[in-house]
Amino acid sequence: MVDKAMPTVKTTTLGRLVIVGMGLIGSSLAKAIRPTRLYAEVVGVDTVLDSCQQAVAMGVVDSASQDLPAAVLHADTIVLAVPVLATEKILQQLAQLKLADSCVITDVGSVKGVFVAAAQRAFGYLPHNLVPAHPIAGSERSGVTAADATLFKHHKVILTPHAHTAELALTRVRQLWSATGADVECMDVQSHDRVLAATSHLPHLLAFGLVDSLAKRSENLEIFRYAAGGFRDFTRIAASDPVMWHDIFLSNKDAVLHQLDELNADLVVLRQAIAEGDSHYLLGVFTRARAAREHFNTILAQRAYIQTMLDNDLVFLANPGGNVNGCIRVPGDKSISHRAIMLGSLAEGTTEVEGFLEGEDALATIQAFRDMGVVIEGPHEGRVVIYGVGLHGLQAPPGPIYVGNSGTTMRLLSGILAGQAFDTILTGDASLTKRPMNRIAKPLREMGAMIETAAEGRPPLTIRGGHPLTGIHYDMPMASAQVKSCLLLAGMYAKGTTSVTEPAPTRDHSERMLQGFGYPVEVHGAKTKIESGHKLTATHIEVPADISSAAFFMVAASIAENSELVLEHVGINPTRTGVIDILKLMGADISLERIREVGGERVADIRVRSASLKGIEVPEELVPLAIDEFPVLFIAAACAQGRTVLRGAEELRVKECDRIQVMAEGLTTLGVQVETLADGIIIDGGPMGGGEVWAHGDHRIAMSFSVASLRATQPIYIHDSQHVATSFPNFLTLCAQVGMHVSVNAETQA
Ligand code: S3P
Repeated sequence: MVDKAMPTVKTTTLGRLVIVGMGLIGSSLAKAIRPTRLYAEVVGVDTVLDSCQQAVAMGVVDSASQDLPAAVLHADTIVLAVPVLATEKILQQLAQLKLADSCVITDVGSVKGVFVAAAQRAFGYLPHNLVPAHPIAGSERSGVTAADATLFKHHKVILTPHAHTAELALTRVRQLWSATGADVECMDVQSHDRVLAATSHLPHLLAFGLVDSLAKRSENLEIFRYAAGGFRDFTRIAASDPVMWHDIFLSNKDAVLHQLDELNADLVVLRQAIAEGDSHYLLGVFTRARAAREHFNTILAQRAYIQTMLDNDLVFLANPGGNVNGCIRVPGDKSISHRAIMLGSLAEGTTEVEGFLEGEDALATIQAFRDMGVVIEGPHEGRVVIYGVGLHGLQAPPGPIYVGNSGTTMRLLSGILAGQAFDTILTGDASLTKRPMNRIAKPLREMGAMIETAAEGRPPLTIRGGHPLTGIHYDMPMASAQVKSCLLLAGMYAKGTTSVTEPAPTRDHSERMLQGFGYPVEVHGAKTKIESGHKLTATHIEVPADISSAAFFMVAASIAENSELVLEHVGINPTRTGVIDILKLMGADISLERIREVGGERVADIRVRSASLKGIEVPEELVPLAIDEFPVLFIAAACAQGRTVLRGAEELRVKECDRIQVMAEGLTTLGVQVETLADGIIIDGGPMGGGEVWAHGDHRIAMSFSVASLRATQPIYIHDSQHVATSFPNFLTLCAQVGMHVSVNAETQA
């Protein structure tokens, strides 16, 4: 490879852009770029006179010509928009011409390896100003008349610079595509060709192949008459340009063949499953595929599932005032939803769940078990069906398990994974990656598990399989239901007995649900005991509404004037009702109606009326029983008369964010007097203004400041509210329904 001296590329005044090939991509690029005035002149080149004339007549280009050497003479940038195998001939022509040193050459082909090789052959070296590019956009239509200026908007354009590509040339091509509204990324040539073989080339091959296979058998022709949605959708891309695709398959042969072989092998198994009536296998493929299709952006990017959860800052605007009235049911309990999936997956038989929380965190748990081969249908309107695989039926996941924002998933799942024969890696989002995992890693190691963490016991966790566990007794240093549950789950795989003592009562959903699945658990005061050698038997689970989500509306209806709200079917497990006790101590008007028991959990309708609250010293024994509700209780304290003091709540500092610090900062912004303590906070009730506060990606902080607006005198802008969907996807809808003025701030939306 000849290494030429680094040429200079002017980026200030761009004169002439030459686009060779006026097919769909070329003319769409011209049409998108011309109005931006990035180039003084956009020139089209095409071998077909008609295309040239059309392009000029339609105003797609300033001028067009069939004469390549003349057109490129003073070009600043040349874009080769011709089929992949046609690029070599043009590159050879360009190599013979005296192009300016600063002239950048780029292309739009779907295969980058052949383009780079063709350039190497044509020039004898790889020019510094050569920038291979691939816009991942297209249409089955072609030609100048199909030109679409918006074709590239929000689509990806991948640049695959070679080792000697000049930075300025790269910048120029990046600038070109950015001007069309595309999102530009860089990748190496091999990765590009491998990825595209799977996501683009293979589907096109299947579409062409299917249509031809059906069409060439005359008995099938009749079916085209009836070809409705499915066939049309699946085969839309078979109407794409044949020459272009011929070139692509021959150019990316190895990567395409590899993908095709893998698919062939899977199809053979699928065929066999149909032949043998293996409905479990079929349902497994279809439910996994459906989830992957619905969430594939998420799964690929390891981001959130719910579409509102963008990477961008989501700002809630909470306008002051409002009354809170009506009757609502908040979504299903998060803790119970997680456990239903975990135990249902490990049970023998089919478990049906109703009232499931369709929030990010619980969806992450479903995905984790799907990754380990469990067939799970839904969720659909709160209904989930889990085809349990038994305690020893999980399979190694295909890659790391991503659990998003969910600490509960990571901690509880670790207990199960420690007992498996295969290795797993658990990863999470930025917030989860900061949270302490030694609290479970340490006792699990004492049981014999092999667990590696990142620095200071943070995620990701690597859990090695095949290390036999032995039961231990563990005196928990902190009151944590997650740690207790993790060890009880590991206890099902450990030799002998595993027992845990908690320093204060924490939520006991795991114990109750294990018993509901027929797995014996002994509870003696603070000590819970489990032994291996039993099995879980599938059951029916009805998930009550989450008291932690109801808490926002309990505080809302208490602090707003003239309010009366009924929260239906809320779980009132005694290990979760600290929020009701604390609010009542503050003077809230809360009554429980229609108390009943559903599937081992107590539920009630909760009626809340406006009340004038007073500050209190929060009894320490109530802290673990209201651990998730403190952010909104701080809002209640800010609206109360007098001082509220909370101590013994250092756990709040290691939740989705440091809830003491973050709430204190937000309350201070609103003009409330607060003092933070290492293990709590002191809040003096008083008037609240408005302003900008930050939720630090913590769902409960965002919802708490939304509630604060009922008593604020000015709007509150709540930044970083995107994680509300982790536990409460329809929060804003319910706010509007009861009379609160909270919405996504339109001005901050792209
Ligand atoms: C949970 C336990 C609590 C709670 C979390 C859910 C559970 O965490 O904060 O939202 O489902 O077991 P800790 O056990 O860390 O206190």
